[in-house]
Amino acid sequence: MIIVHEQDLLFHLKNTQVSYVFRVMEETGILENLYYGSTISDYENFDWLLEREIRPGNNLVPEKLLTSLEHIKQEMPVYGTTDFRYPALEVTYPDGDSISHFRYQGYKIFKGKEAVKPLPATFGEADQVQVLEVFLKDDYSDLHLTLRYAIYKELPVITRQTFLQNKGQQDYLLKHLASLNIDLPNEQYDWLHLDGAWARENHLSREKIHRGVQQVSSTRGASSHVHNPFLAICQPQTTESQGKVYGFSLIYSGNFQAQIELDNYDYLRIQLGINPFQFQWQLRSGETFVSPEAVAVFSLHGFSGMTQAFHSLFRRHLIRSSWKDVPRPVLLNSWEAAYFDFDEKKILDIAGASKELGVELFVLDDGWFGSRNSDKGSLGNWTENCEKLPRGLANLVRDIKAMGLQFGLWFEPEMVSDDTPLYQAHPDWIIGHPKKNISQGRNQYVLDFGNPKIVDVIYDQMDKILKEVPIDYLKLDMNRYISEAYSSELSPVQQGEVAHRYILGVYALYDRLANAYPHILIESCAGGGARFDAGMLYYSPQIWTSDDTDAVERLVIQAGTSMVYPLSSMGSHVSAVPNHQVARTTSLDMRKNVAFFGVFGYELNPLALTQEEKEQIRQQIKEYKAYQELIMQGDFYRLATGDTNRIAWMVVSPDQSEALVGYYQILAQPNPTYQRLRLRGLKEDDCYQVIEANTESQRYGRDLESIGLLLSQNYLGHEPEYWSREMLGDFSSRLVYLKRV
Ligand code: DGJ
Repeated sequence: MIIVHEQDLLFHLKNTQVSYVFRVMEETGILENLYYGSTISDYENFDWLLEREIRPGNNLVPEKLLTSLEHIKQEMPVYGTTDFRYPALEVTYPDGDSISHFRYQGYKIFKGKEAVKPLPATFGEADQVQVLEVFLKDDYSDLHLTLRYAIYKELPVITRQTFLQNKGQQDYLLKHLASLNIDLPNEQYDWLHLDGAWARENHLSREKIHRGVQQVSSTRGASSHVHNPFLAICQPQTTESQGKVYGFSLIYSGNFQAQIELDNYDYLRIQLGINPFQFQWQLRSGETFVSPEAVAVFSLHGFSGMTQAFHSLFRRHLIRSSWKDVPRPVLLNSWEAAYFDFDEKKILDIAGASKELGVELFVLDDGWFGSRNSDKGSLGNWTENCEKLPRGLANLVRDIKAMGLQFGLWFEPEMVSDDTPLYQAHPDWIIGHPKKNISQGRNQYVLDFGNPKIVDVIYDQMDKILKEVPIDYLKLDMNRYISEAYSSELSPVQQGEVAHRYILGVYALYDRLANAYPHILIESCAGGGARFDAGMLYYSPQIWTSDDTDAVERLVIQAGTSMVYPLSSMGSHVSAVPNHQVARTTSLDMRKNVAFFGVFGYELNPLALTQEEKEQIRQQIKEYKAYQELIMQGDFYRLATGDTNRIAWMVVSPDQSEALVGYYQILAQPNPTYQRLRLRGLKEDDCYQVIEANTESQRYGRDLESIGLLLSQNYLGHEPEYWSREMLGDFSSRLVYLKRV
């Protein structure tokens, strides 16, 4: 997979789906990219790919006009080498300048890969992944740079991570270190990104790339509801099923930047990494700074190809939990069922009623600790609320388990409220400047998780409960952003480290919990989807996708999220109507059919259901269990319907023997055009039993792809049936199951 042409110092990372070629440039010793895209042949000599137009520009080596790096596609551009585009690395040197020149030193190749502490990263066995490390050294300092590339055998995936080591005696100030830099010739590309806000996360945006810089980023201390650490570029005609796409994801949960720069010679520079905004790292003698790993995916098969590559990589090589391939229990979460308004009896009643519905795991959400009866206090006091739970948590859990249910518990470990013993003993343990205003968010402060001592204190509180109470599932939440980054623990020159150190502390806590309690299923959450990113996926195989549980809004949120993240990671629950976020009423069937395409559960009060609804839910859970493996393991397709009023999803088992199709109509139209839904991913020559409600038919894969499922709501050619026909109506859905005959 990794070919090295020693004489030309050229590296070709290659598998059956992707090629990535770069070399050491003559005269300058910098790394020059020659090609990235679909697999190409390997050649003894790649000189024909060199682009060396002489243009007006500054030349790095006197009298050598060809050493104008402004026009060279590079792997790790830096400032001070005649390249005027944004650099991938910036260091302030002792003289106050930031002039670097990193020159090639050597390389190393090895098989198999593990995450390098302290960051999450992809991993794989020796027969699955190969790693190339390229070593560079700065001409003017003792800084050494390692670019670590990985190529996965079965996937169109290259990853890259950057390490900066200080082998000298003095300290340096690192201002910016991109994880990935790719310079590509532009092809009139569009770019895609996922944007939103609380309760409307991950809406997909697509725009033409214009000249100059465009970026998505976060300055909030979390990857955020606002932008996701992902971007893709694609040819203008690209659809779900065809066209060239490059997708990029950063395995990181803090302040990130994903940037595109289109220059005046039609080169695109793509960079992903920690956001340089307010970032500064004092790199002391002997220390190494590790950047997050970035993933680059290539697809010639449109967005579905990109999606499936991300999903396969994350499912097989990123999620480390023992739960990654295990069917998840169908849960009922108490949040929308009771919010803060419960006591022991109510919880036991809800749990008992859930069990009768077929629920497998009961989750006690916020409100069980300290004196918490609203969102105004008690965070950081992780002992049971004795008023609500007078017999204690252990007894409550014993009774719930005696019902035959598993038990899950909510924590928000990173936060503290000002009414707690923890805050009162250590007011300086929060993030913020003690002499300046420190804002509250949801009435709470952010603990300075950059300080390992504070992480230990919180871990010990959680550990005590986990040792005493048999807990099967943890929901780990985070409900506010960092607005005044300052740590009382750090020196003035280190204040630019606060946000990154904070996220390292979060990872350390998750790592300790995952190691000490490997049997516990962890679902991470950040006010819904404010940290739905590949970094959190490393520790938690599922993430709460959004606080919005409305089936119609979820169609948009889940479709956007599915661009990058597998269905097996997307928490999706059926909740009550009118919906608590948008007051919309949709049928129980519609809510179920949307929530099916994720990690399925409920978030409602079962005591408030009618007998008919209870029976419906019993059936829903049975139905989900039958499809669960297919949904968790299958290949996901967003099907083309031609408009945004109608949405269709499909998941096909890896052996193509079965598939599930969800079709959703937002608003009904009078006298609609005839609807045909073309399926994907089936075996052309195989015949499938097509099962929908009470109707069954047999069709060949080829025909289901070319003709499609006929979805007309009109009478089927029999005039008398016209007036009695059943129409889907507003907010409606259909579910079709296909099984190879
Ligand atoms: C935000 C989460 O996203 C919700 O699901 C719920 O756990 C609340 N926090 C509890 O405060």
